[in-house]
Amino acid sequence: MTKVQIAALAPVLLGFGALSSARPLSAAEARPVYLDPSAPLETRVDDLLGRMTQEEKLSLVHADSKFTTAAIPRLGIPRRWMSDGPHGVREDVGPDTWNVAGHTDDFSTCMPVLIGLAATWNTESASAYGNVIGEEARKRGKDIMLGPGVNIQRTPLGGRTSEFLGEDPFLASRMAVNYIRAVQSHGVASCVKHFAANNQETQRGSIDVEMDERTLREIYLPVFRAAVQEGGAWAVMGAYNKLRGQFCCENDYLINRVLKGEWGFQGLVMSDWGGTHDTREAVFNGLDLEMGTDPLPRAGAQRGPLAADASQSVYDRYFLAGPYRDGLKTGEFPLATLDEKVRRNLRVMIATHVFDGREAGSLNTAAHQEAARHVAEEGIVLLKNDGHALPLTADRLGSIAVIGENAVRLQAHGGDSAKIKALYEVSPLEGILRRVGATANITYSPGYRKNGGADLIDKAVAAAKAADVAIVIGGLIHERPFDCEGADRKDLSLPWGQAELIRRVVAANSRTIVVIVSGSPVEMGGWLDRVPAVVQAWYGGTEGGNALAGILFGDVNPSGKLPCTYPKIIEDTPATAVGEYPGRNGTVHYAEGLLVGYRWFDAKQIEPLFPFGHGLSYTKFDYSGLRLVAGSDPNGPPVTVEFEITNTGDRAGAEVAQLYLHQEKPSLPRPPKELRGFRKVTLNPGERKTVSIALDRHAFAFYDPARAGWVAEADDFTFQIGSSSRDIRLQGAFRLGETTVER
Ligand code: BGC
Repeated sequence: MTKVQIAALAPVLLGFGALSSARPLSAAEARPVYLDPSAPLETRVDDLLGRMTQEEKLSLVHADSKFTTAAIPRLGIPRRWMSDGPHGVREDVGPDTWNVAGHTDDFSTCMPVLIGLAATWNTESASAYGNVIGEEARKRGKDIMLGPGVNIQRTPLGGRTSEFLGEDPFLASRMAVNYIRAVQSHGVASCVKHFAANNQETQRGSIDVEMDERTLREIYLPVFRAAVQEGGAWAVMGAYNKLRGQFCCENDYLINRVLKGEWGFQGLVMSDWGGTHDTREAVFNGLDLEMGTDPLPRAGAQRGPLAADASQSVYDRYFLAGPYRDGLKTGEFPLATLDEKVRRNLRVMIATHVFDGREAGSLNTAAHQEAARHVAEEGIVLLKNDGHALPLTADRLGSIAVIGENAVRLQAHGGDSAKIKALYEVSPLEGILRRVGATANITYSPGYRKNGGADLIDKAVAAAKAADVAIVIGGLIHERPFDCEGADRKDLSLPWGQAELIRRVVAANSRTIVVIVSGSPVEMGGWLDRVPAVVQAWYGGTEGGNALAGILFGDVNPSGKLPCTYPKIIEDTPATAVGEYPGRNGTVHYAEGLLVGYRWFDAKQIEPLFPFGHGLSYTKFDYSGLRLVAGSDPNGPPVTVEFEITNTGDRAGAEVAQLYLHQEKPSLPRPPKELRGFRKVTLNPGERKTVSIALDRHAFAFYDPARAGWVAEADDFTFQIGSSSRDIRLQGAFRLGETTVER
């Protein structure tokens, strides 16, 4: 749509708004039920649906530009705007191309990438994060935000690892639920993506994923279930790939049976952009909104609607447009299928207050920037810190050599659909300069460059030698083929000679700190044992550099924990070890089954580089006093786990206590341990707090395909409570008295 058309729509909407509120209505003009905010949601949906023509209905189930569906001025239905992405409201593109629109009012706050949010292990931070997304989306006029991305990290090579919430379904679920609730509290629908089993970018548009039912239920579906049932997500985006032979956007089992049937999802299912392949499948298998289909006939491709009459509007050639109309006419598709899709679209509009007057929202506020900084600080993970190498004491440092291209590289604009036009982005070097630039002599040398360059290492080594301390800021980039959609990484290595650079810098100056800016794990072999301190900083967003400086100089005590296992070598990781990544002949079998991430490393007794849940602090925490309090209510949690954490160091800090569960004699094999609870606790020096985690029956359960349900078996269980999955501090036993099955 052109700007002229948008302008033409505005008076219609204004007029409509006036009708609904400004003056008393005569009986003849009485407000339609669908505009009555006090009427029940379903009544409003029915009323509006009943007023629509077939053409109007059709217009709501497919796009009319890259990120919109058509307005229906007659009914006061505004144009509906969608936007990426998970960690900020994306720059406007289009309307009919991927080229940027060139607007001047589409700068927004860039939050840290989602893996950085997961690394906070703080559900309140997930709420704060979602709040920023929701408020900024409102201000930018967006109706549906395309996020969060919640696909489980099956392999660290996955190109979109940074866009998702790590390898554990429980941690990812807790974060996603709070994120979604916060976004939607602002009258913006959250579209959880990509449903489901979208765990690699290699051949993402065609790969057929095969896995057993139990793995699907226990590893890959729980976050989606939590997102819709607990988070109340109003929209779900299908994945590009196939599951068991059928494209996910048109997958009868996933959408009709599980999502809408078993889970009772009432919202809309949209396709990923270009993820629709067939009108009939889309009509019958649950797709409610087709987005992003390439509307232009491809050379030699005579399939489906893309080959239709060139005089048609490109969007009318969508699978759920012209061809759907044709099938409705011939009776191939019953009108009820269309009504059902439209009903879901209308429900989301009404539930997100499209007709009721929504909040204006706000953009780039100081509060949003503060939230971005706080989440970034909380998600930074201190991986190693020998001999108290960190924090650096600002007033005792004469000189610092900052080395590495990631010290100056801005990352917000990377990541394809996850790209953000940040109002500003503080680079790591800028953050360090702001923090200590006035008191210390700071030099910068790139050390390596994405595009190569002569003598870079020699110059960096000379700078390191001359300085009190060297900070190497390297890692990956938020671009293909590193942390970006469209391609997976080829390996885990640090590119562009960084390993050699680090070795030589630390040989020149033993006080060398390494900061990895990346959205996924990297290999550290060959230099980790020589370097006293290593920090994982992710892509920190708008305030990333300030957050990093806060950690390095001790203004902030690190409290992030890894949301995924860091392997020593890729061969240690499950998908690669079983020879099932990226698949063969178009199919990938998830042969490792349930043993994803730490479940695999535990079961196979492989020592990771850094375990799931790992993250150090500048203070120390002591765990004590474990007690298991049996629940007295037969319908309530069978047990509450309680213990104390004490800050035994000399600075305030936060610890993430993690609770893992092990079943002694399950009737089906289970992973050695599974995360079932966590709490982030902030403590002053010497302070002690009680942590209390109630475990409901579901926490004990595994999915039994034979019973098509979640079984909590009468058996002995062990609780392991720790500071990481491999640093268990307390252990206790509990017997579950009776077996129960829940759906
Ligand atoms: C991505 C989605 C994104 C969509 C729209 C697709 O390529 O897979 O995550 O929301 O594009 O930009």
